[in-house]
Amino acid sequence: MDDLLFSAEEHAEAAALTSRFIAQYQDTVASLPVHATIDRAAVRAVLASPLPDAPESLAALFDDLAAFVVPNATHTSHPRFLSYVMPSPNGISPYAESVAATLNQNCGLAKVAPSAAAVEQTVVRWLAEIVGMDASCGGIITSGGSVANLVGLTVARDHALGDTARTDGLQGGGAALTLYASDEVHSCNDKAVMQLGLGTKHLRKIPTDDALQIRMDMLRERVAKDRRDGFRPFCVIASAGTVTTGAFDPLNEIADFCAAEGLWMHVDGAYGALSAMSERFRSQLSGLGRADSISLDPHKFLFTSFEAGCVLVKNAATLEESFRVAPSYLAKDADPDLVNFSDRGPQLSRGFKALKIWWSLRYFGKTAYAATVDRVADLAQYMGQVAQDSPAFELLSPVTFNCVCFRMSGMDDDANRRVLRQLVDSGLAFLGPANVKGRIGMRACFMNLRTTRRDVDAIMSGLQRLASHGA
Ligand SMILES: Cc1ncc(COP(=O)(O)O)c(C=O)c1O
Repeated sequence: MDDLLFSAEEHAEAAALTSRFIAQYQDTVASLPVHATIDRAAVRAVLASPLPDAPESLAALFDDLAAFVVPNATHTSHPRFLSYVMPSPNGISPYAESVAATLNQNCGLAKVAPSAAAVEQTVVRWLAEIVGMDASCGGIITSGGSVANLVGLTVARDHALGDTARTDGLQGGGAALTLYASDEVHSCNDKAVMQLGLGTKHLRKIPTDDALQIRMDMLRERVAKDRRDGFRPFCVIASAGTVTTGAFDPLNEIADFCAAEGLWMHVDGAYGALSAMSERFRSQLSGLGRADSISLDPHKFLFTSFEAGCVLVKNAATLEESFRVAPSYLAKDADPDLVNFSDRGPQLSRGFKALKIWWSLRYFGKTAYAATVDRVADLAQYMGQVAQDSPAFELLSPVTFNCVCFRMSGMDDDANRRVLRQLVDSGLAFLGPANVKGRIGMRACFMNLRTTRRDVDAIMSGLQRLASHGA
């Protein structure tokens, strides 16, 4: 075992153990406790384990999966895991991941990964088509929405800085750049603003209305005020699916405003942009194609395994202006057909994430995805109706997408937090906290391929039981 390669027997054994694990896990995940009761002694034993000197067997590695990893994992594929925006992966992703690792393409340079470049270009074009962006746009698969937003906002910043963006950066002087988003915008945009050296105080958080959408009147006022005060407004971040309530900002109005004001329109569509696959949500996303850049997440509504995000930039040249470098050792030849993806993002070495997106869309097809978006949105509507029909619950916001924010009525904030904690600790379901305009409650986000109405009923009666016990 000194050449680090597998013999035919080892391949056979590893393949059998892996496929058995994948099938068995998927078949039994619904019967596991959704929330791990962490075995601290086991965790500490692993934390203290020495660097291995001698080899172990494949069986020992898989035994540890069963003994340590699975029992101490949170089962995000469990039908009652409804926290965050965290789907269960589709059936094909684990296999695509293994194949991608086997091929081990380095997807930064077209000449060392030509077919992978073609696949990535193709999925980027398909994703652009779903959200209504012109096929001439530039795009790249990222690790997720956070990096997609970072890349989009980098291009927006560099575009605002102009010719000296690369050489002088923000140190070139000039008035402070300001950008705008609703106060419901995802925190990864604050992180991006920090990383880009813009300073979070220059990300103006604009209040939202009762539908949790950005107040256009206040956006207009703030931009006008900033101009009067000598700032340089340069970008509006619109949310296509805010993380807490799933609200969609008015994209067409924002696009009109950005066009009139000469501002870059970036859409954080990590959560909701791909719901454009469904007829039901397409009209509220009709302005997406007018954005200068969009982030979206195949590891959400395409249900790929983590990680898979994407950023699209309307003008492909501006994307490459922010990221292209050409040192002699990379020897990047221009190719008539293929893109060097290291010119479109921060990474040089990159894995073949596009394969699982390619296979997912080809194996299941867009129609099945549209039906799945509708199915999970229907589950949210169902839970919303149950909450509305029962005096035990109170909705915190209208149910317009695939998530529900609600609280136990007649109980204060602390009691609501307690009930949520007890629900999660009980292992019945994993919901997240919600704070909607200062009102505290809980949030269920339906992105799980196994969830049914029976799960919703079990959660709602479980919550009522917990509330009455603690009262
Ligand atoms: C609206 C929104 N933007 C960005 C993100 C961050 O995406 P990721 O976790 O893929 O980095 C999320 C995650 O849920 C989100 O909901």
